[in-house]
Amino acid sequence: MIPYIDLVSHHAALRAEILEAVGRVLDHGQFVLGPEVAAFEAEIARRLDVRHVIAVGTGTDALVLALRARGVGPGDEVITVSHSFVATATAVRLVGATPVLVDVDDATMTMDPLALEHAVTARTKAVIPVHLGGWPCDLTAIQDVCNRHDLHLIEDCAQSVGARHRGRSVGTYGVGCFSLHPLKVLSALGDGGFLTTHSDEEAALFRKLRNNGLRDRDHVQLVSPNSRLDTVQAAALLVKLKYLDGWVAQRRAHADAYREALGAVVRVLPPEHPRDLCVYSTFVIRHPQRDRLAEALRRRGVDVKVHYPVPIHRQEAYATLPCAPLPVTERVVAEILSLPVTPELSVAGREQVIEAVRSAAEEVG
Ligand SMILES: Cc1ncc(COP(=O)(O)O)c(C=O)c1O
Repeated sequence: MIPYIDLVSHHAALRAEILEAVGRVLDHGQFVLGPEVAAFEAEIARRLDVRHVIAVGTGTDALVLALRARGVGPGDEVITVSHSFVATATAVRLVGATPVLVDVDDATMTMDPLALEHAVTARTKAVIPVHLGGWPCDLTAIQDVCNRHDLHLIEDCAQSVGARHRGRSVGTYGVGCFSLHPLKVLSALGDGGFLTTHSDEEAALFRKLRNNGLRDRDHVQLVSPNSRLDTVQAAALLVKLKYLDGWVAQRRAHADAYREALGAVVRVLPPEHPRDLCVYSTFVIRHPQRDRLAEALRRRGVDVKVHYPVPIHRQEAYATLPCAPLPVTERVVAEILSLPVTPELSVAGREQVIEAVRSAAEEVG
């Protein structure tokens, strides 16, 4: 079976380096906000070319803290997409605001800037585009809407570390909210996340918000939870960061090969716009008989996933949320299928996937 993802193999190659890095943390004993956390923040800030990175406990927390920092709360509307992992909308709910879910563009399956424009009301306070699958949203158009309506731009970059739009990293247009969950392109050995901002003031606020609102050791300025990235996680992440560019290159090579070989067989992601760089956290194909295709692929020894089969507005927890019809989202979620695209997938494995998709598509018709 070609696995969809193989975290054991992924870490086997890094084992000695990670154990050594964790050993150094055991030696110095600063398990909370130790030197590796600051080093990780500095290194990722350098790579993304952003002034500040603030490491936090999860990507969900990053979204919640970004919304809080921008003063979003009860009575406010936040426009985002239904075609995302549920955490995007959860964060909005957790600060007491109302998510307004809009449709996606049919080709890129990310926020449709026109749908965004139409959803703006007097109560809209912020917009959260999601760079789903590592595909940069049309940030030029989305930022333009935000500027014209004076809205906060909070980017959900959970799946898109390293992705770029017009030469700039995603997460540097607005506040960037990243996840380091094990299934992400850059992952911790468990949960983790970080925020990006160009503002010194906002960075200082984030540092308080992630740390029980403490101004200093003994004085609490804000009511806030504890959401810090552990030092051992930062130590492992510093090791992994050295390999990130290579991993992204491998994902991109897989995506290019899939696009070329499968374009005539199934619907594939369109070519990237020349101004963008996608990191392919997922490589998505589309087929009207998606479930049958998935089953035929698994029978041929290829594991596949669906990201995500149930859009947020169809989730039980959001059943009472008023939502305009989302015809493109409904169609997309019925057709999408993610192929293996991780760096551990060999070229021979990729060829096997391609052959399997060809023959499964023929079977399904
Ligand atoms: C699009 C999106 N937003 C937010 C999150 C939340 O991140 P985390 O799982 O680190 O809380 C995830 C990941 O799970 C995600 O894929």
